[in-house]
Amino acid sequence: MSRRKIVAGNWKLNGSKDFLQNIVETLVSVNDVDVVIAPPFPYLEKASALVADLNGLSVSAQNVSSYSDGAFTGEVSVAMLKDIGADSVIVGHSERRELFGETDAIVAEKISQVLKFGLTPILCVGETLEQREQGSTIEVCSTQIKSVLDVVGAENFDNVVIAYEPVWAIGTGKSASSAEAQEVHASIRKLLSESLEGLGKKVSILYGGSVKAANAKELFEQEDIDGALVGGASLKVEEFNEIIKAAG
Ligand code: G3P
Repeated sequence: MSRRKIVAGNWKLNGSKDFLQNIVETLVSVNDVDVVIAPPFPYLEKASALVADLNGLSVSAQNVSSYSDGAFTGEVSVAMLKDIGADSVIVGHSERRELFGETDAIVAEKISQVLKFGLTPILCVGETLEQREQGSTIEVCSTQIKSVLDVVGAENFDNVVIAYEPVWAIGTGKSASSAEAQEVHASIRKLLSESLEGLGKKVSILYGGSVKAANAKELFEQEDIDGALVGGASLKVEEFNEIIKAAG
């Protein structure tokens, strides 16, 4: 797997059948930019069907169970996501870590499940404002990544996409500066290459946290930023299209 330019839209708890139809019909296509939409579970199968014949556009789930099957009411397995045509899965988003108690161990198990079924995991890592102010940003992100490397093995990590999402930038309108983001991305890439020779060159590392049309170009000009995981702006198709174009 080689590094890809990826612009992914995480809809979070938003969307409808009509919204999905409009988004798919209106999204732009840019050479060498993989566009991903991540609607809530109920819309995934329809989304997969709508994008099936559209090059460069794929569908991601926003979460998945760490269990493969059985008595786990309300859960959704990787096998089910594969069955309905999802291509990737966002795993370990800070909102799931914070609001739903997802630990590094749970995240690692989810990543293992996603890789086992041949889907692409988008592993979210990032520090809180307090951790940044304490100077432990890189330590926090490294620990989150190492916990996955320890479970899946560096030799199986080249199909993982990483999204660096500083928690203090999510939904706040205050993005990390391009320099701040680049510093963390470079440290992540260095960690990967130290884990396995050449791994850093294979893994796409996206930035997420208040990515907008206004800041996307400067972020994407950074050497180690391979794209974006976009929240709010992905719900506004014109702005999302501007972000996709900026990645081209
Ligand atoms: O997963 C992407 C999301 O956390 C970023 O949200 O609204 O700051 O772009 P937003």
